[in-house]
Amino acid sequence: MPTHITPSTAAKRPWPYPRWIAHRGAGLLAPENTLAAFRRGAQHGYRMFECDVKLSADGVAFLLHDDTLERTTDGQGVAGNHTWAALSQLDAGAWHSPACAGETLPTLAAVARWCMANAYGLNIEIKPTPGSDWRTGRAVAQAAATLWANHAQPPLLSSFQPEALAGAQETAPALPRGLLLETLWTGWLDAALALGCQAVVCEQGLWTEALMHQVRGAGLHSLAYTVNDATAVQRLLALGLDSIITDRVDRFAPDA
Ligand code: G3P
Ligand code: MG
Repeated sequence: MPTHITPSTAAKRPWPYPRWIAHRGAGLLAPENTLAAFRRGAQHGYRMFECDVKLSADGVAFLLHDDTLERTTDGQGVAGNHTWAALSQLDAGAWHSPACAGETLPTLAAVARWCMANAYGLNIEIKPTPGSDWRTGRAVAQAAATLWANHAQPPLLSSFQPEALAGAQETAPALPRGLLLETLWTGWLDAALALGCQAVVCEQGLWTEALMHQVRGAGLHSLAYTVNDATAVQRLLALGLDSIITDRVDRFAPDA
């Protein structure tokens, strides 16, 4: 049965974000999700950044991709079980390279300050500790709404977890939302529309002309992650993607 499409009214606005978005700051050339990575992306001309945000045990929104600390810090265990006082003491750079030793986990507040001071855009991927989707969506959206209050360009909130986006929608309905899709699971379009999303952010290989047609027809904007290959970039630009998320800030010079 064909999906019944109710176009998203919010998404009919022009896309206000740059074409190029640096992934995890610029998380190959510097430790991902640290301010050093953001600064590296900016050095390469990037004006928008994606990052992963979760909550400490005492409710502080901070940047980390994994559920656990081992891969990208010198800490151990589930990150969301630790207080911010403990997390703020960790080394989040030495794993990457000796030159980056001493980098710390940034709070969302610190990244917000840096983005607003430099007029950079931010895509906040809400990355909840398992079991905390709705609570994390609410808390991150509340923090973002407070941090970016009255600012001309609000951050784009995205998540693979519909429950996290539902929490964000309830708490800060005016902040733009994007549904992240690794697969086109049954009901994804209806979910994106019900969540009031402005965009879908798909794994790059999912994009086809047919999908673009479906997404545009629904009034949604189109983003692809994580695109590090020139041939893939050409294909996606030809399809007319609104934004491309890449690690390779050194390979692709942002033209928009
Ligand atoms: O937000 C796009 C991309 O970051 C999603 O995948 O695992 O790199 O957070 P991941
Ligand atoms: Mg991410």
